[in-house]
Amino acid sequence: MYGSRTDLECGAVKAFFNKQVREHGGSLESVTMQSKEVALARDVREYEAIFNKFNISKASKIIDLGCGIGRWAKWFCDKIFRYDGIDFSRECIKTAKQKFNDEAGFRFYCWDLCNISNFAEFEKAGYDLCIVNGTFMYLNDSKLERVLGFLPSIMASNSQIYIRESVSIVGDRLTLKDFYSSELGNTYNAIYRTDSEYFRLFNMAFNPIDFCLQESALLLDETLNSRKETSQKYYLFAKNIR
Ligand SMILES: C[S@@+](CC[C@H](N)C(=O)[O-])C[C@H]1O[C@@H](n2cnc3c(N)ncnc32)[C@H](O)[C@@H]1O
Repeated sequence: MYGSRTDLECGAVKAFFNKQVREHGGSLESVTMQSKEVALARDVREYEAIFNKFNISKASKIIDLGCGIGRWAKWFCDKIFRYDGIDFSRECIKTAKQKFNDEAGFRFYCWDLCNISNFAEFEKAGYDLCIVNGTFMYLNDSKLERVLGFLPSIMASNSQIYIRESVSIVGDRLTLKDFYSSELGNTYNAIYRTDSEYFRLFNMAFNPIDFCLQESALLLDETLNSRKETSQKYYLFAKNIR
């Protein structure tokens, strides 16, 4: 569907990711929906392009919204103080807990971001980095507005917010609702917003006096982006020092 504002069924998204993890054994493919080779190449590409932009230290606290199987968590092992991963897929959280069982300070919670303001386990002093990677595309507009509006309240001074989403590059929003994908062998749901739609939402949620856009760009080159209508874009925000 192009352009129209159609809401997704949250339960269908959750069921999709639970099934993905069960079928792919919690591998990278389960959350990237790509072949093993492409999933790995994209993972490395993102790490190489982004990781050094984070102002993190051994004292840093990180929150990952829609953390999946902990794809980002692995890059932070032994480098930070606290990593909190939140995801509503039980299978994702089970996998992440198994993978990072021995990692001190790493915690994973099964929680729906739509209820983010009721989540009681947040670090009181706030987070130095928030990661949202390929998650907002599964949230309907009203819920995304609520999550974005809440985010600044859990961020420490001098913090950063890194958002990476699949965006529509054809001018209009593209919504896949109960779309049967023969590639995935499953029904798929996602909202590919345009870059300007995301900017409108960010501008509404982040007071520019507090958060400014540090940088934003497309992440993948032609060899890694297999889609004609969508691409991956990142937005890195930094909290201003007052
Ligand atoms: C494409 S995967 C990305 C996972 C991870 N961020 C990564 O980059 O590997 C999207 C994740 O968002 C989670 N998700 C989607 N909607 C959510 C919601 N309302 N609350 C919590 N997690 C959600 C899914 O369960 C899934 O693990």
